[in-house]
Amino acid sequence: MEILKTKVAIIGSGPAGLLLGQLLYKAGIEHIIIEQKSADYVAARIRAGILEQVSVDLLKEAGVDQHLNEFGLPHHGIEILTGGEKHRIDLSALTQGKQVTVYGQTEVTKDLMQARREADLTTFYEAQNVKIHDFYAQPYVTFTQNDQQYQIRCDFIAGCDGYHGVCRASVPQDKIKTFEKVYPFGWLGILADVPPVSDELIYVQSERGFALCSMRSNTRSRYYLQVPLTDRVEEWSDERFWEELKNRLDAESRENLVTGPSIEKSIAPLRSFVTEPMRFGHLFLAGDAAHIVPPTGAKGLNLAASDIAYLSSALIEYYINNSEQGIIEYSEKCLKRVWKAERFSWWMTHLLHRFETESDFDLKIKQAELAYILGSEAGQTTLAENYVGLPYEIKKFENLPKAS
Ligand code: APR
Ligand code: PHB
Repeated sequence: MEILKTKVAIIGSGPAGLLLGQLLYKAGIEHIIIEQKSADYVAARIRAGILEQVSVDLLKEAGVDQHLNEFGLPHHGIEILTGGEKHRIDLSALTQGKQVTVYGQTEVTKDLMQARREADLTTFYEAQNVKIHDFYAQPYVTFTQNDQQYQIRCDFIAGCDGYHGVCRASVPQDKIKTFEKVYPFGWLGILADVPPVSDELIYVQSERGFALCSMRSNTRSRYYLQVPLTDRVEEWSDERFWEELKNRLDAESRENLVTGPSIEKSIAPLRSFVTEPMRFGHLFLAGDAAHIVPPTGAKGLNLAASDIAYLSSALIEYYINNSEQGIIEYSEKCLKRVWKAERFSWWMTHLLHRFETESDFDLKIKQAELAYILGSEAGQTTLAENYVGLPYEIKKFENLPKAS
């Protein structure tokens, strides 16, 4: 058994773990990442692609915004298509100039991995049988890699290991409460090298169900369809997908839609899920390990980023300023923002999807709510300020002394 020591052991190298690693590195705080999959697998995962302004600011603070500045597409509005008509929500006009940036999570992950390689930081990929121990007293992590057993002794463990990870599962049942809502449909998504149907994203509410026209660049599109959970991806040929998408669009978009072979196709279930609290002694949960949102408001990655903003500044304050304040407040601060994003994602999902169980009355009420939102500046502002991201403070730590 090889025994290593570090300050922070980060479990998982998704966007949450990688971003935490990068911010700790910039502050001179030693850490190690332990990831169960291979680097190639992590870099290839296709996920959502909308960054709030605050997430862009955080990536800048982490020093990984070079590609983002070059290839990210700033968006100032979104379209909502309902009753066959498109309505533009002018995000920037409604939020004093804020915007979102279209930039794939896959790219964010690659940028962070590249920065990590350049700084020669330690990551154990393909770690097997990862276990966390004694996090209420003297934490350590054990795992195996290439038949070698490791033990990493640390001050803190950051559980950035996603929804199916080992960290949340290791917390004693009587110390944790979870809240969950599962939706009775999934999103069938495809990626295709065709120009997007429109300059801005179109969220579609139709009698045939929800659809979303999104993009990764001016030549790569990402489209989604609401489908029954019982559907299997093999049942959806590209032709069938495009046909159904057309059926949910308005005449103009149908005409402008450029179709082509898919380069990725998958079905994802929708879920709302929150864990309380988000700290257990010396163990922190962050990102999908602590909460899941349905993708309708594009909040998943952005929430992971705000957790990491709070966690990195808590750890920096602890090591550099000898203050435990950020650590004590971590869970409460995160959860305040998490629940607001949960509410928004749930609301967008509810408003735009077809639910089999909804009565004619429910449907009419929903249509009236949409009509109200779209017809009122107050209603549109509610949507816009949540969509661009609720503000939080990114603490700047300049000219940091070396962590002790
Ligand atoms: N040991 C080590 N690593 C693990 C373990 C384990 N037992 N279990 C899971 N992991 C790894 C996964 O392989 C994955 O690389 O943890 C990582 C978790 O990454 P993500 O699932 O991407 O979660 P997170 O970093 O919190 O990112 C949140 O991802 O799913 C989207 O919508 C979500 O955009 C949001 C973002
Ligand atoms: C995406 O581009 O993958 C995307 C965009 C907006 C969403 C969800 C997903 O709300």
